[in-house]
Amino acid sequence: MTATVLDLIGNTPLVELRRCWSGPGRILAKAEFMQPGGSVKDRAAKAILQAARSDGRLSPGMPVVEMTSGNMGAGLAVVCAALGHPFVATMSAGNSPARARMMEGLGAEVVLVPQVDGCPGQVTGADIAAAAEAAVRIARDRGGFLVDQFNAPEGVAAHKETGREIARQAGHVDAWVASVGTGCTFIGVARALKAIDAQTLCAAIEPVGSEPLAGGDLSKPRHLLQGTGYGVAPPQWDPDLMDLGLSVTDEEAEAWKHRLGADEGLYVGYSAAANVCAAAKLLGSGRLEAGATVATVLCDTGLKY
Ligand SMILES: Cc1ncc(COP(=O)(O)O)c(C=O)c1O
Repeated sequence: MTATVLDLIGNTPLVELRRCWSGPGRILAKAEFMQPGGSVKDRAAKAILQAARSDGRLSPGMPVVEMTSGNMGAGLAVVCAALGHPFVATMSAGNSPARARMMEGLGAEVVLVPQVDGCPGQVTGADIAAAAEAAVRIARDRGGFLVDQFNAPEGVAAHKETGREIARQAGHVDAWVASVGTGCTFIGVARALKAIDAQTLCAAIEPVGSEPLAGGDLSKPRHLLQGTGYGVAPPQWDPDLMDLGLSVTDEEAEAWKHRLGADEGLYVGYSAAANVCAAAKLLGSGRLEAGATVATVLCDTGLKY
């Protein structure tokens, strides 16, 4: 049986990280970077556009427009190519140029929006807001479909399936940890895992100094965890799902990024590294039983930086 590119989205392997974490407990990481857009966002891109096509909000050939840190844009570019839609991505100029190149390679038009208070490689909430405004303007001017990934309910629904996949692959999961951009990954997986076992501990990860979800420090809006940590709770945030907050420094993310590459052969991005770092911190904290299993996601490939 043959497949289309859309069939390459979802059903990613769950990898046990045996070499960079020797216990207590074990870390299982969903290899989301293996999808055709190279990140976890492919699932939301496919779900949102397929829903819009089926209920008529997105008609055949209509332009699709979205603000992106690059990963949602790559996912949308993949899905737009497969469904035959032109795609315009607005992105903060602070996100890595590799992302713009990839989107362009997938046929997208990329509009770079100047940074407000961030700097290259470090994108703030204000930078994101500027890129979002540009997307709204372009969608209006061109009669396009605005994806609105922060508010679209299909993103969370898509990640409930990610959670069910994790449960099937892992057998049993004691804890789930993930960094938060739109929150769709954290929320969807947490809902699915808690529906299976209400005791599953769910921890949201934030960059040190940009910790609104934990009710903490907002002194450092600039950080390396691109795609996450925008300094405000995302619109679909459900605080009842967050049992715990964990924070990660830029230096820790750098160190774990290197470790995942050199020790595991997994060349991934900073939020993926932060996720694994936080999983190790949780297992090392003694809060879980000695043989506990912590699940997380490897959000994107290191080739995007
Ligand atoms: C690299 C990276 N990690 C993590 C996330 C967070 O995913 P979510 O938007 O589902 O919270 C994103 C979102 O764009 C991302 O680009």
